[in-house]
Amino acid sequence: MTLDAPNANGETLQKTAIRATDLCFGWSEDKEILHSCAVEVPEGEFWMLLGANGSGKSTLLRLLAGLLQPTGGEIQISSPVGFVFQNPDHQLVMPTVGADVAFGLVNEGLEIDEIRQRVEESLSAVSLGAFQRRPIYALSGGQKQRVAIAGAIARHCDVLLLDEPTALLDPDSQLELVAQVQALVKKRGITALWVTHRLEELEYCDGAFLLEAGKVVDRGDPERLKQRLMQSEDVED
Ligand SMILES: Nc1ncnc2c1ncn2[C@@H]1O[C@H](COP(=O)(O)OP(=O)(O)OP(=O)(O)O)[C@@H](O)[C@H]1O
Ligand SMILES: [Mg+2]
Repeated sequence: MTLDAPNANGETLQKTAIRATDLCFGWSEDKEILHSCAVEVPEGEFWMLLGANGSGKSTLLRLLAGLLQPTGGEIQISSPVGFVFQNPDHQLVMPTVGADVAFGLVNEGLEIDEIRQRVEESLSAVSLGAFQRRPIYALSGGQKQRVAIAGAIARHCDVLLLDEPTALLDPDSQLELVAQVQALVKKRGITALWVTHRLEELEYCDGAFLLEAGKVVDRGDPERLKQRLMQSEDVED
């Protein structure tokens, strides 16, 4: 499902897969965490969400996923939506790789052959085709994150939201994962929003948002945002 239909002349405008306007949220009435946030991600693009600790990145992502309800504003998002958590041990629930991906399909009402085919296909998409029978505990952190992503692909998710998926990974697995998500986005037309504070990941994305104290203060070209953040780090030093 996409948000924008062709116009009256039959032309297809650039479609938007994630759009939030004027988004506000607070855990209590007297303390607002997000203030009138606006984000827009074009269909089939890979965007990142940057910001200091506590700036509201996870909160914004959870609102977009429908895991929290905003106190104000509007969200439009193509569905289904897949969510990848920072710690895969909080996400993977079954003992083996194949069973975990299949478990995510239990509510889809699919025939067994279709489930088998989707599990195989989604694991191949994240280069884990040979890992179906592997116990989850025997996987590396990066492999676990790829199982979580395979779960979203198996559900044919239009949008993938990833909350610091590389935070617990070593530098090699980190860059492998970000490159793989970039390739998946381009190959399968998925739209992804990836939270990070690691500036070296920015070169893989099409655009980025910068969140400061619950407000989106900048957006656009990742290289420009990287320079901005590097300069502000220099000032702090
Ligand atoms: N369950 C909660 N109850 C109350 N306050 C919360 C809760 N979760 C987060 N907060 C507060 O909301 C603000 C934004 O938190 P959030 O987790 O969205 O930030 P973040 O940018 O993801 O930070 P980090 O980089 O550390 O992951 C913080 O001040 C945090 O303390
Ligand atoms: Mg967070």
